[in-house]
Amino acid sequence: MSLSGKARIAGVVGWPIGHSLSPVLHGYWLAEHGIDGALVPLAIRREDFSETIVSLQRAGFRGVNVTVPHKEAAFALAHVCDHAAKAAGAANLLIFQADGTIEARNTDMLGLMQSVREAMGRLDGKAVVLLGAGGAARGAILALGELGAAKIHLLNRHADKAATLMRAMQPLVKSKLSAGGFQDWKGAAPAADLLINSTSAGMAGNPPLALDLAPLKPSALVLDIVYNPLETELLKQAKARGHKAIDGLGMLMHQAAPSFEAFFGVKPEVTPGLRARLIEALAHG
Ligand code: ATR
Repeated sequence: MSLSGKARIAGVVGWPIGHSLSPVLHGYWLAEHGIDGALVPLAIRREDFSETIVSLQRAGFRGVNVTVPHKEAAFALAHVCDHAAKAAGAANLLIFQADGTIEARNTDMLGLMQSVREAMGRLDGKAVVLLGAGGAARGAILALGELGAAKIHLLNRHADKAATLMRAMQPLVKSKLSAGGFQDWKGAAPAADLLINSTSAGMAGNPPLALDLAPLKPSALVLDIVYNPLETELLKQAKARGHKAIDGLGMLMHQAAPSFEAFFGVKPEVTPGLRARLIEALAHG
């Protein structure tokens, strides 16, 4: 099978995939730019991942966005990768080049960077507390490092994982990394200019993050990478305490922009109209 004609087709692969907002996101930009194309959601089991990627490439897809649980497999399968994918050991974008090369990128890091920059500019001299020590935290450390953060304090439910991540990431960023468990929150919070949740706590179906924001200084910003629900318990608490709160939609929209450009050849804009469309999609489950 091969796709003919001018239509440009890309995919988003994951398991499950039903709740992915990527088709809505790309669909919005395709309509905005009058492009004949589509981003197709594909539910692919872990064991079928590599075979499917090869088939999609043969079929003429431009590439795929990759979500849970395939991000590490996507990185492993690619022939070339960018700095962010290499540092994270994971990719959320595979681009199928005309010569058969598969290029892996990690645009989650760019998405977070852009979202933080929009809210507070660069982070030179600033201190950040980052919750979590998984794949999302890896990308976040790189993003914060790029923005010039002076200090990044990693806190994780299992403190040993935060320490391991600190050791792995310190050579890759200029920011001074430190690590601990949630019991260290009270000590770390007062110095923080920004608190980021990169854990999956607070996501629909998961318990909320058990964190009291009282020790945070009033000027600190709170960012949650979770976008479903849009207003997590953490962000609710932050707003109630007068902090500026940033939800996960900014990161989601900004990580999608480089994918759209790679698939469809146009650099799209992140606008209030797109945000409104995604909020509508979230409301309709
Ligand atoms: P991802 O690649 O999305 O970061 P992951 O690698 O599975 O996913 O990591 C999930 C992160 O969320 C981990 O830091 C995990 O903490 P542990 O390492 O201690 O398991 C964190 N996490 C998940 N549920 C949590 C909860 N209810 N409270 C606090 N942290 C949680």
